[in-house]
Amino acid sequence: MCYNSRMLEKNIVLIGFMGSGKSIVSKRLANMLNRQLLSTDDLIVQEEGRSVNRIFEEAGEEYFRQMERKVVEGAAEKQSVVIDCGGGVVLNPENITDLKKRGILIYLSASPECIYENIKDKDDRPLLNVQDPLARIRELLKERRALYEQADYIIMTDNKTADEVCEEVIRILSHD
Ligand code: S3P
Repeated sequence: MCYNSRMLEKNIVLIGFMGSGKSIVSKRLANMLNRQLLSTDDLIVQEEGRSVNRIFEEAGEEYFRQMERKVVEGAAEKQSVVIDCGGGVVLNPENITDLKKRGILIYLSASPECIYENIKDKDDRPLLNVQDPLARIRELLKERRALYEQADYIIMTDNKTADEVCEEVIRILSHD
């Protein structure tokens, strides 16, 4: 792979809906490129000493978003890291502005059906802990699609392995 020196300094920022593969892809990318990995959810959980579910339950979504804003502000200042963003990071326009300053934003896009398959046996997404998660996914995706599409690049992840998605990211980086 060859990419120019400007690219070497840029952060690789993965955005997208819950269950679209951001975490696994960002881990692999960080390994492959020997870069530090920052996950906004992990940073919040570390700072709070409680799970995302518990933060939502005990302090509410608004509080979670404030924490998210704080960790995004810090992560966006870094250089040459991979940033795995929680699905709701795009809800705050300041997050996008900050992340774009030093980062190349890649939207991992998945269909509601694929997202549902990926999350259906998990209980760590408080926003999808509802009677009809697929309907909720469709609704939230509709609300958020334009926000995710502010990314510099979009990769469709349906029916692709994590390795295939990583290869696409690397192709993007080498041509940017
Ligand atoms: C959320 C996505 C989650 C987590 C929280 C809220 C969202 O992260 O931040 O449950 O609003 O889309 P993942 O996208 O990593 O699941």
